[in-house]
Amino acid sequence: MDKFVIQGGTQLRGDVTVSGAKNAALPILAATLLTDAPVVLHGIPNLADLTAMCELLGDLGVSISRENSTTLRCQVQSTDNSHACYDRVRKMRGSICVLGPMLARRGYARVGMPGGCVIGSRPIDLHLRGLRALGAEIELDGGDIIAKTDRLRGASVFMGGPFGSTVLGTANVLMAAVLAEGVTIIESAACEPEVEDLVDVLNAMGAKITGGGTSRLIIEGVRELGGVEHTIIPDRIEAGTFMMAAAITGGEVNVRNARIDHLYAVVDKLRDAGLHVESAGGGLTVAAGQRLTPVDVTTHPYPGFPTDLQAQLMALLCLVDGNSAIIEKIFPDRYMHMAELLRLGANIRKEGPVAIITGVESFVGAPVMASDLRASAALVLAGMAGRGETEVRRVYHIDRGYERIEEKLRPLGAKIQRTKE
Ligand code: EPU
Repeated sequence: MDKFVIQGGTQLRGDVTVSGAKNAALPILAATLLTDAPVVLHGIPNLADLTAMCELLGDLGVSISRENSTTLRCQVQSTDNSHACYDRVRKMRGSICVLGPMLARRGYARVGMPGGCVIGSRPIDLHLRGLRALGAEIELDGGDIIAKTDRLRGASVFMGGPFGSTVLGTANVLMAAVLAEGVTIIESAACEPEVEDLVDVLNAMGAKITGGGTSRLIIEGVRELGGVEHTIIPDRIEAGTFMMAAAITGGEVNVRNARIDHLYAVVDKLRDAGLHVESAGGGLTVAAGQRLTPVDVTTHPYPGFPTDLQAQLMALLCLVDGNSAIIEKIFPDRYMHMAELLRLGANIRKEGPVAIITGVESFVGAPVMASDLRASAALVLAGMAGRGETEVRRVYHIDRGYERIEEKLRPLGAKIQRTKE
């Protein structure tokens, strides 16, 4: 296993480029199951989660070849195997989004039921309810979901849940509805840019969807879809992470390929805290400069402040004089990073989904353990801002969602090395 060894205390300065969005690429890769024609995808980052998705699609009969470092060519070659086994789904929950397309195209799908994970319980009841509304017969057998249909039929489907709309649930039902007979209306659809990117891909393949990026998707089913060539949107979470890296180290970074229209809530909070954030030349520049002030943040579905940047923001707020508050509304237990930040000298207390952060002068380097993807990013930020040496162990978590993060941070001045544990 690899670990990062970080010498803290350098201000990050320079330019860094954001890769394609993991969470857009995952469902879009699953959409290749909807057609026999070739699908060419540009801007696919080299990430462990996407490699896992490609392996799963390989099991399901999709041949995938790499045309260059960021372009994949995908085409269904066989429909003999429609079983996404638990071992695959367990390691990468995004693989649940093969369920909808496989059911729609093949009339049958068997997918391992994902369990909980370290960021909290992650049910899929809304996915299943949506597919049932389209006429799928769904049962559980041996820990697998078995979904069958002669032909799906359009219906009204409500995708809101106790913690807001579901992103992958919306993607799953949308991909099933594009080949259903008649019109489907998805109410309370997730509005995340990743869902909108999926809508754009599906429409380019011949689907008839209106309302992409809004909470009401109207889908007129078609008989079949064709191929497409598409470039994945930039990763707003990677962009936000680099913005906070600039902020926490007191530096100035131009985050290229960051889309401000996907990051308004984040930009707004960073400006509230006293950072300078400018949109220029297809990117965003973040500059520290003055003393920061505490802020209160609640995570919400898009366009609110994303849960996937909550851990990184917490690391930043740990060094802001005064009291800040974070309320995690999407995954109320997503605070695994808190215990590790405490090891670095942070002052945080938690009451249910609310964390109160009292700023300290500095982090003090120590060995810490990455527990999940975004928690690990928070620890890397803390390590870069801290005094002395921080070791972040189990960096395979970070490799799931950040493309060689140390190679992007080093040119900015970060002292970060990858070594064997
Ligand atoms: N929920 C239900 N029932 C469902 C589905 C979800 O109650 O059937 C709840 C969840 O437990 C959660 C809330 O609804 O409280 C939102 O979950 P959602 O379904 O939107 O999450 P997801 O689609 O499984 C995606 C991202 C996550 C990101 C969330 C929220 C991918 C592959 N994953 O997950 O990304 O945190 O949306 O924005 O797109 C990450 O990249 O680190 C990551 C965890």
